[in-house]
Amino acid sequence: MEIEAPHVVKNAKPGQFIMVHPDETSERIPLTICERDVKNGTITIIFQVVGTATSRLNLLNAGDTIQNILGPLGHPTEIKNYGRAICIAGGVGIAEILPVAKALKEAGNFVLSIIGARDKGLLILKDEMEKASSRLLVATDDGSLGRKGFVTELLYGELKKDKYEMIFCVGPIPMMKKTTEVAKANNTNIKVSLNSNMVDATGMCGTCRISVGGKTYFTCVDGPEFDGALVDFDELASRGRRFVEEEKISLEEFKKIHVCKNKIPKKE
Ligand SMILES: Cc1cc2nc3c(=O)[nH]c(=O)nc-3n(C[C@H](O)[C@H](O)[C@H](O)COP(=O)(O)OP(=O)(O)OC[C@H]3O[C@@H](n4cnc5c(N)ncnc54)[C@H](O)[C@@H]3O)c2cc1C
Ligand code: FES
Repeated sequence: MEIEAPHVVKNAKPGQFIMVHPDETSERIPLTICERDVKNGTITIIFQVVGTATSRLNLLNAGDTIQNILGPLGHPTEIKNYGRAICIAGGVGIAEILPVAKALKEAGNFVLSIIGARDKGLLILKDEMEKASSRLLVATDDGSLGRKGFVTELLYGELKKDKYEMIFCVGPIPMMKKTTEVAKANNTNIKVSLNSNMVDATGMCGTCRISVGGKTYFTCVDGPEFDGALVDFDELASRGRRFVEEEKISLEEFKKIHVCKNKIPKKE
C-alpha cells in the first residue's frame, strides 16, 4: 500500500516504522516503512492480513484516506560498511528487511540475503531482494521454491563456509530465536528486529516491554532492533500471546459486519 505522507518521507530511514490508525474506531498498529519515494512524498507498507486492524486496512481502496499515521518511529538500522553482511528474513519479515539490504549494499557491503516462507505463494519480494543483494538464497518449508526447509539451515551452511561481520534478521519469533542460536554458535553478531505488540509507541504504556541482557527495554523507543544474543525470546513470545482470545473475538465481530466485502482474511 502506497501512502501519501510527505511529513514521514522526509525523515524516514531503513529499519524504522510507522503507527497506522486505519480508521476512527480501529487499533493502531506498527508497520515497517518498506519503501519511500521522496519525489512523490509517498511511503510503501507491506502487510499480512492477520487480524482486525490489518483487515480494516485491507478494506481500503486506492484514493481512500487512513485516519492517521505516526512516524517515522524507532531507531534506524545502523548502516555502515561491515564488509560482509547477511540479511535473513521469513514471511512478511522480507518486507522489513528489504530496505535494510538495499541500504547495506549501497554502503558497499557484500550482502547475502536469505529469505524463506511456508510455500512459493507466500514468498514475497523475491525479485526486489535479488536486486538489493549481492547474492540471494531462498528456502520454502515445502520445497516449492528454492531449498526445502528453513532459512536457518541455509544460514548454517553459509556460516560454516564464510565469515560474515553482521547478520540482520526479521521474522516470526521462533525463526529469530533459531537464527540467533546459529549465529551464536558461529560467533557472528546478530541484530533482530522485534515485533512486540504496541499501543502508544512512545514509550509510555509499557505494552512492548522486553528483556535484553537482563534489562528492561521498550521495543518502540529503544528498538525495534536489538542484539539478538541478548534478547529473551521466550518472554517476547509469551507477551505476544497475551491478547489472543480478545484478538479472536474482535476478528469474529469484524467478520460479522464485513462479511459481504469479500476481503476477509483466512485465519490459520
Ligand atoms: C516494529 C514493527 C514493525 C512491523 N512491521 C510489519 C510489516 O511491515 N508488515 C506486517 O505485516 N506486519 C508488521 N508488524 C506486525 C504487525 O504490527 C501485526 O501483524 C499487527 O499489529 C496485527 O494487527 P491485527 O489487529 O491485524 O491482528 P491482531 O488481532 O492484533 O493479531 C492477529 C494475530 O497476529 C499475531 N500478531 C499480533 N501482533 C503481532 C506482531 N506484532 N507480530 C507478529 N504477530 C502478531 C497475534 O498473535 C494473532 O495471532 C510489525 C510489528 C512491529 C512491532
Ligand atoms: S508501545 Fe507503549 S511503551 Fe512501547
